[in-house]
Amino acid sequence: SRGCKLIGSGSAIPALQVSNDDLAKIVDTNDEWISVRTGIHNRRVLTGKDSLTNLATEAARKALEMAQVDAEDVDMVLMCTSTPEDLFGSAPQIQKALGCKKNPLSYDITAACSGFVLGLVSAACHIRGGGFNNVLVIGADSLSRYVDWTDRGTCILFGDAAGAVLVQSCDADEDGLFAFDLHSDGDGQRHLKAAITENEIDHAVGTNGSVSDFPPRRSSYSCIQMNGKEVFRFACRSVPQSIELALAKAGLNGSNIDWLLLHQANQRIIDAVATRLEVPQERVISNLANYGNTSAASIPLALDEAVRGGKVKPGHLIATAGFGAGLTWGSAIVRW
Ligand code: ACO
Repeated sequence: SRGCKLIGSGSAIPALQVSNDDLAKIVDTNDEWISVRTGIHNRRVLTGKDSLTNLATEAARKALEMAQVDAEDVDMVLMCTSTPEDLFGSAPQIQKALGCKKNPLSYDITAACSGFVLGLVSAACHIRGGGFNNVLVIGADSLSRYVDWTDRGTCILFGDAAGAVLVQSCDADEDGLFAFDLHSDGDGQRHLKAAITENEIDHAVGTNGSVSDFPPRRSSYSCIQMNGKEVFRFACRSVPQSIELALAKAGLNGSNIDWLLLHQANQRIIDAVATRLEVPQERVISNLANYGNTSAASIPLALDEAVRGGKVKPGHLIATAGFGAGLTWGSAIVRW
């Protein structure tokens, strides 16, 4: 039987850096509040003609370079994003920009901050059961486009970025994805959403199926609405449980892993989960101070920095977990 392994990483960030002090000029907040409550100091923001698709393509190119794999040999591109630049999906545009000539299968995965973990598991399933060989998993988001820049409760949290890994087929005994655990709960959507505006529904004058509602109005999405406290509680409760389940499936526990790499949402969440799993600080990867919460990009961005910085080395065991809107959450135990 076939296995899969992670063999390259890459990332890309927009040029514009926005500090906590910069935010204090547009909303009633300050560096101390943001630093203490979140651990975030800076974030990057896509502006002007910058494109998320380009950013994702750049991250993917770097991952291919590290893996020493030609774009031509890529047979699948998974773009994990909740903010595509085309409603119908952007993965085929990335495939085209990369120059993947073998007509690979490319599609988007929408699962907010859990997107990358879902993408990783999907890649493994396609490789193990579908005969694919080189799958690019990209996590990229530009939540800044959906943030209410007058809401100090949310606008301080998010940043834009892209990250990518190449997952390649291998013999089963070299397999690098040991176990995973995935969940979703639509009931929790009320705590975190960016839904089609209520306005449109209010505007409908007829009953369902009435001709007076025709033609429909064009849809638009509201800004991100979040109950921070509920999301905080959800993350601190669900993420350690999920990682423990995945570790148990792999016959491991917290002391066996080299690195804990969580979705970068809030330093206090990262600390709480690490404490629950009894993973010491020096084995926790964190870079959200510089980038904020970059949604589906946060895990591959932090992984890429840790790999290029020499922290994560070949053979290291990583427990990774994503969590966020949907609600969705999940974890995976992988070997670099
Ligand atoms: N600056 C200054 N004061 C602020 C700010 C700000 N930016 N934001 C809120 N406050 C005020 C509030 O108005 C409130 O004031 P009050 O006591 O007078 O009413 C006070 O600070 C406390 O606000 P809380 O919202 O209770 O603060 P909390 O400690 O819960 O921290 C935070 C808020 C940082 C959002 C936290 O709840 C959190 O990180 N939650 C998790 C959010 C998260 O991770 N979301 C992303 C999920 S991923 C995805 O899928 C998108």
